[in-house]
Amino acid sequence: MHSTLPPPEIAFNVALRQYIIAFCIYHTSFIYTIYIILPERVRRLAPRLYRVFSRHHRDHTSASALSAEEASAAVAEMQETASGHQVQFQMVDAITLPKVRNLNSVLFPVRYSGAFYKGLLHPGQFSQLAQYNNISVGTIACRSQPLGFADCSFTTMFDYNSPVPDKFELYMMTLGVLAPYRRLGIGRLFLQNAVEFAFRDQNIVRIVLHVQIDNDDALRFYHKHGFSTLRIVPHYYKNIEPSDAYLLEYRLR
Ligand code: ACO
Repeated sequence: MHSTLPPPEIAFNVALRQYIIAFCIYHTSFIYTIYIILPERVRRLAPRLYRVFSRHHRDHTSASALSAEEASAAVAEMQETASGHQVQFQMVDAITLPKVRNLNSVLFPVRYSGAFYKGLLHPGQFSQLAQYNNISVGTIACRSQPLGFADCSFTTMFDYNSPVPDKFELYMMTLGVLAPYRRLGIGRLFLQNAVEFAFRDQNIVRIVLHVQIDNDDALRFYHKHGFSTLRIVPHYYKNIEPSDAYLLEYRLR
């Protein structure tokens, strides 16, 4: 058999060309991997990385929440009722908020929204939790709002971003004590604390609240503590019967 080999310089050129092509293919795929595939992988990995990061972030948050718990424990104050019971009162914060939610669900026929609970943590509001023998037994929630707002017939959520007027009222949204712990003087202390809070602000001129017209216990309690009935608000409550409410007022100044 007779074979024809190319001359050495042509064979060298062919080999060189093949090497260059292989080199280019290899490096193109390398470059492709680095610039196209890898970022895609990173992009896909990103949510996982984000979750890992946010878990890490949450750990830090709960670490700071822990110090908030310590802080709220620090502001918790022991008060004695007229009947000699030691009750701890503390301002509601993110830690104690779930306890307030639980209490409200058994104390009131009204279901409060997430916006309501978010509002309790808003600066300048007055919300407390009472603990008796380490049991959460009662809660109060008040918000400061422009004077006369409670007299309006509408019952929209208060807009915290509205322009600042010069006179305010403290609107008591909720006050309740679990049934077995009533008549121990806890409600009276809650009221006392709310009145002290309102008095400290020169611009708050009264405390107001709505109470269902058939809530005789609460009416007796409020009248006993200096509240007077302003008027009946027909159909104040949306989903409960009776739907009418009394509007009560306690003048501070
Ligand atoms: N009947 C008559 N007088 C009463 C009554 C009652 N049922 N409850 C309280 N009082 C009067 C008494 O004079 C009492 O003093 P005394 O026990 O020495 O006689 C005084 O008020 C102080 O009572 P406290 O023991 O401080 O009040 P308590 O801790 O029981 O809380 C409250 C009163 C909050 C009204 C309670 O009954 C309760 O939680 N009710 C259910 C929830 C509710 O209806 N809340 C009010 C809704 S309106 C709103 O939230 C704004």
